[in-house]
Amino acid sequence: MQRSVVLVKPDGLQRGLIGEIVTRFERKGLKLVALKMTKLSHEVLDEWYAHHKEKPFFTGLKAFMMQTPIVAMVWEGLDAADTIRKLVGVTKGRAAEAGSIRGDFAMSQSNNLIHASDSVENAEKELKLLFGKDEIFSYESGVDCLVYSNEERGQK
Ligand code: CMP
Repeated sequence: MQRSVVLVKPDGLQRGLIGEIVTRFERKGLKLVALKMTKLSHEVLDEWYAHHKEKPFFTGLKAFMMQTPIVAMVWEGLDAADTIRKLVGVTKGRAAEAGSIRGDFAMSQSNNLIHASDSVENAEKELKLLFGKDEIFSYESGVDCLVYSNEERGQK
């Protein structure tokens, strides 16, 4: 199974959307394997957004991400990274498809509520930046046999 990192950004926290966001992933059949509230440091954000370092919005983005604590989660499932990106919607909230999280709750390109890993490689990098090994759990879920076929569950 793949793992993917999701952050509820400061605007999502302040707008009271944590429960809504968690519910959407739960209902989809993804498995929550880590969850915590934390404050992001300059050092972590420099690594996290290293690919945006030269962009004009980099400084503002960092300031935004440090406004309040964020809620960080790790979700597990088959093709979790792609599946979560679809549930989240495209970067610009007002262009995101209705039914996606950004499509339903966001207007902005910067204040877009939520971060989701864009690849399996980045998910593993992000996971190491925010979580210790003892903060990520592995457990049998009673509904795995309903969410996936036997063949799919064999693809672990
Ligand atoms: P995300 O896709 O999670 O990761 C990069 C973030 O940079 C993005 O969400 C937005 O929050 C922010 N971002 C992307 N493009 C812009 C932009 N043009 N102006 C301001 N912020 C942006």
